[in-house]
Amino acid sequence: MPLDQYQREINYLRVSLTDACNLRCVYCMPEHMAFRRPAELLNDAELFRLIPLFARLGFNKIRFTGGEPTLRRSLVELVRHAANQPGIRQVGLTTNALLLDQLARPLAEAGLATVNVSLDSLDPERFRQLTRWGNVRDVLEGLAAAEEAGLRIKLNAVPTRGVNDRDDAVALASLTLTHDWQVRFIELMPFANNAGFQTENIVREDELRAHMETSFGPLESVNEGRLDGEARVFRIPGARGTLGFISPVSRPFCAACNRVRLTADGRLRLCLLRDDEGDLRERLRQGATDDELETSIRAAIHRKPWGHDLAGDRIPASRGMSEIGG
Ligand code: 5AD
Ligand code: SF4
Repeated sequence: MPLDQYQREINYLRVSLTDACNLRCVYCMPEHMAFRRPAELLNDAELFRLIPLFARLGFNKIRFTGGEPTLRRSLVELVRHAANQPGIRQVGLTTNALLLDQLARPLAEAGLATVNVSLDSLDPERFRQLTRWGNVRDVLEGLAAAEEAGLRIKLNAVPTRGVNDRDDAVALASLTLTHDWQVRFIELMPFANNAGFQTENIVREDELRAHMETSFGPLESVNEGRLDGEARVFRIPGARGTLGFISPVSRPFCAACNRVRLTADGRLRLCLLRDDEGDLRERLRQGATDDELETSIRAAIHRKPWGHDLAGDRIPASRGMSEIGG
């Protein structure tokens, strides 16, 4: 198992398959976003080669992200390939679910275990306002297909002040009354392309939880308050599912970080909120052997930064969220 310089075990790889998306969420990217040229992205052969190297190093969990990973034609094959690697115990997908209607079953058959679906509002108007052109009905159909296919479901919502931080957040949380899902609220994080927006619109965990409790009464703590991944988990009394609060800004969880990210253009991003990256794409294209690639991966992981420095006003500058995949 690779260890970083702080002796954290790094065993979770998030792979961004494209920086492109079929939505334009207001906190994530501008409406007229320029995406990378295909030649800049890792091609399928490169991904098929890298994934087993991470499995061999001791990684046991892989999640495909984007942009929007369902836009990548080879997604089902990539999931199958990852799920078949010895040592990989779980393959997940983070998606906006617009295309899950058709894809949920083939993905489940290929070995996908879990989907995290981004959904910021159940209200059609507000959903459109937040995504700029999405139709919430497509997401609900995607979710139904995911449930039908037996995938484990988590929802990710990013509360934005004055837009979806009140009634919409409560409506999303209410889904856990009848569904065995985890509905997670993620604090808005700043990137160079949204930093001003973030500062004005972030809703911190304490405030959101207090609002939830005015609607549902006291929430029950699950796991005695221990983190589940990066989320602190609660339950509305009597609910089937749970609520997760992911609070990178107000309660950083860097000490428990176990992940690195492969960007769509083939860099190993060591911390979501730090610009330090290791290059794998050029190493691949210059003909590096598997052993040489493994050495590069280990060296990059070793220097993984301790954590972010948002408190010190250091905001990631080199990329936005849609290029890193969350
Ligand atoms: N801060 C927090 N979460 C974000 N996401 C996208 N941009 C941001 C941001 N700036 C979320 C998406 C998706 C997940 C991958 O990350 O809503 O659910
Ligand atoms: Fe697309 Fe996700 Fe960014 Fe929304 S948050 S624009 S769905 S990548």
